[in-house]
Amino acid sequence: MKAIILAAGKGKRMQSDLQKVMHPILGKPIVQYVAEAAKEAGFADITVVVGGEGGEEIKKGLSLCGGLSFAVQQTPLGTGDAVKAGAGSIKPDDDVIVLCGDMPLVTADFLKEMMEYKKSNPCEAVVAAVFRGEEMGDFGRVFDRGGEFVEIVEARDITDDHPATNWGNTGIYLFQGSSLLSSLEKIKNTNSQNEYYLTDVPKILREEGKTVRVFHTRADMSVFTGINTQSHLAEAVSHMRERINERHMANGVRMLDPRSAFIEPTVKIARGVTIYPNVMLEGDCEIANGATIGMCCHIVDTKIGSGTTIGPFAHLRQGTVIGENCRVGNFVEVKNATLADDVKAAHLAYIGDADVGKNVNYSCGAITANYDGKNKHRTVIGENAFIGSNANLIAPVEIGENAFIAAGSTITSDIPPYALGIARERQCIKENWTKK
Ligand code: UD1
Ligand code: CA
Repeated sequence: MKAIILAAGKGKRMQSDLQKVMHPILGKPIVQYVAEAAKEAGFADITVVVGGEGGEEIKKGLSLCGGLSFAVQQTPLGTGDAVKAGAGSIKPDDDVIVLCGDMPLVTADFLKEMMEYKKSNPCEAVVAAVFRGEEMGDFGRVFDRGGEFVEIVEARDITDDHPATNWGNTGIYLFQGSSLLSSLEKIKNTNSQNEYYLTDVPKILREEGKTVRVFHTRADMSVFTGINTQSHLAEAVSHMRERINERHMANGVRMLDPRSAFIEPTVKIARGVTIYPNVMLEGDCEIANGATIGMCCHIVDTKIGSGTTIGPFAHLRQGTVIGENCRVGNFVEVKNATLADDVKAAHLAYIGDADVGKNVNYSCGAITANYDGKNKHRTVIGENAFIGSNANLIAPVEIGENAFIAAGSTITSDIPPYALGIARERQCIKENWTKK
């Protein structure tokens, strides 16, 4: 079983410097979703066809995905020409699926359904058509007679002579390797765009008397959203977000407003977590049972222990690990720091490059001064320490366990356990001063 993913088109309609298929949807490039769906459906041999221009960018962007091979279509002369560029490794008795790299919402389940269909309806090619009702948009029109393929006509090539149809070309095809190989040679570019259309392949096979079938699906149209414009991209983000959030809710995550929670596919959330509106969770996050993410939090590459409450308005950045039953409140930023269990940083604080012990109270306005203009340094705070309001901890510095830092202190040297660290001007009072 072989899959060919077409990703060499210029993507002019995106009006972007980035390759079309490299635009991220919740942190992951469009084309990676397609490759992962193919893998999940059991396609072990996957070739991504990239362009001469920008191809390297795609190869690099997919390097973490693994198990993919690449072919180059020097000039984008059409989808048929692109498949030709990727056809090098097709064997005659392969089942070959062709997918568009700009279709991130396609599911492994749908690809499996297509395979099943071909198995129970033996033929040389299957074209997948989706019911679009009146919303045909720029989808190619699929014509058939009782499931026997007739032709696909591109939206721009449709004339008054064509009957009406509600079936759009998904751009997904399943071919018998030998038939695909022989017909690719026969495509011509006599159409309004002077492109070699892959849609001509099933037509050629039919004209040769081979069996070509249309697999009609009434699956949700969104599954086949092809991204040609920034507006399509936003639409796809919204569908993907919905899909991800539905999965979390099915697992017992409580979301007050799933429409405003942007959660990347890499994020792990346990059952019994509550998520308030306007939250963004990115990258390698793990949130344990019973944690609460308050309104308007931005959390990246962070682990959060059970029973901990975050936000509202907290910013947790890469490399942060927060223990159980902690409280990280409004306008607190944490970066590359570990907070042991029961730490409280309830408001307006910065904790960067630090190790904070169990049950530390980190008061309002306290900060770690972790950057000296050249290098970053660490702050270590022992358990049960009390960091008073507006303290500046100038790193590298170590605060002993059970130590107490007086409010407003700027701490530049280590404080032993159980000590009071105070570093501020003594208050003086001038009686009746304003009367003068
Ligand atoms: C294509 C189909 C259309 C279908 C639609 C579904 C053709 C002629 N038309 O139209 O019937 O309804 O998909 O979304 O196939 N590509 C290349 N090299 C090229 C041209 C394109 O690799 O020379 C790639 C693109 O990167 C893209 C995919 O093929 O990922 C589809 O190309 P695109 O130009 O988006 O085709 P559509 O106009 O959407
Ligand atoms: Ca497209």
